[in-house]
Amino acid sequence: MNNLEQLVADAAAEFASVTEPAKLEEAKARYLGKSGSLTELLKGLGKLSPEERKSAGAAINAAKEQVESALNARREALREAALQAQLAAEALDVTLPGRGQPTGGLHPVMRSLERVEQLFRSIGFEVADGPEIESDWHNFTALNTPDNHPARSMHDTFYLLDEAGKVREDVLLRTHTSPVQVRYMQAHVAKYGHLESMPEIRIIAPGRVYRVDSDATHSPMFHQVEGLWVGQEVSFADLKGVVADFLKNFFETDDLTVRFRPSFFPFTEPSAEIDVAFMSGPLKGRWLEIAGCGVVHPNVLRFGGIDPEKYTGFAFGMGPDRLTMLRYGINDLRLFFEGDLRFLSQFN
Ligand code: DAH
Repeated sequence: MNNLEQLVADAAAEFASVTEPAKLEEAKARYLGKSGSLTELLKGLGKLSPEERKSAGAAINAAKEQVESALNARREALREAALQAQLAAEALDVTLPGRGQPTGGLHPVMRSLERVEQLFRSIGFEVADGPEIESDWHNFTALNTPDNHPARSMHDTFYLLDEAGKVREDVLLRTHTSPVQVRYMQAHVAKYGHLESMPEIRIIAPGRVYRVDSDATHSPMFHQVEGLWVGQEVSFADLKGVVADFLKNFFETDDLTVRFRPSFFPFTEPSAEIDVAFMSGPLKGRWLEIAGCGVVHPNVLRFGGIDPEKYTGFAFGMGPDRLTMLRYGINDLRLFFEGDLRFLSQFN
């Protein structure tokens, strides 16, 4: 083997022995760099005679090409090895089972509302609704609560600003679902027109309501279910029957007593609070307030466009948040609105 062949063999061996790209470049410099051995040989050509220079030059260039191609082959091999290593490190095991997609569930209060709707539908009630941004007129005036009535101050709510930043006096976030009573009566009368032939009104109106109130049993946003039955000769006795029957079905027990405690609401006369007590279980014997109710005040019927001489009705407003707390034994209302999955997932 002559010197050049030896040099090419050495370079190839050296390239093959390195495993890192930086080391490969260092090895390259020793052969092809400014003072690399091949470069030195090329520089020496000048000292040779023209004939010798030609053949020696050709031989050196051939050797240089061999070194370069050994270098490129090694570069390529190292790049490929690096790629393979990366692919191996980032490999996915496609045979692993998936983590699964957790399924959502109904909020406990929504479960109650669905149950309330189902039970009232079964006795011929329709489900109605109204806006949460309500007019002052529907929320108060039409419910026999004139401007300076003290009941208004018990319903402190959230107001809306106009474009100039002033509190609007004509609208507010509704403080109860009772305004749906008047909205529904008006729509009913508009639809059936004639007072003599009007079909009965039998509705519940579940929804969100708002008040400035916040503690373990009050939240600034909570739910109510309004009930309204208007017809000829609908009385307080009907109210008692409907409510007692509903509560037994809702709590799935006959083991409860219902009490109507005299109270006051501007939109009913007479008015009562509905209390329930369970005869067994952890809450045994305690009276728990769950709704307000009464016989619809003649003025409310009139605001709804209905003649109080011909029609009577009863109404109630229940707290489904409270019903849900009783049904599941929950003691803090705020749990419903914190969105904590540890709490919520227990109901699904
Ligand atoms: N709207 C009342 C409140 O939020 C509850 C209520 C009482 C509704 C008596 C009624 C009713 O329909 O007849 O406090």
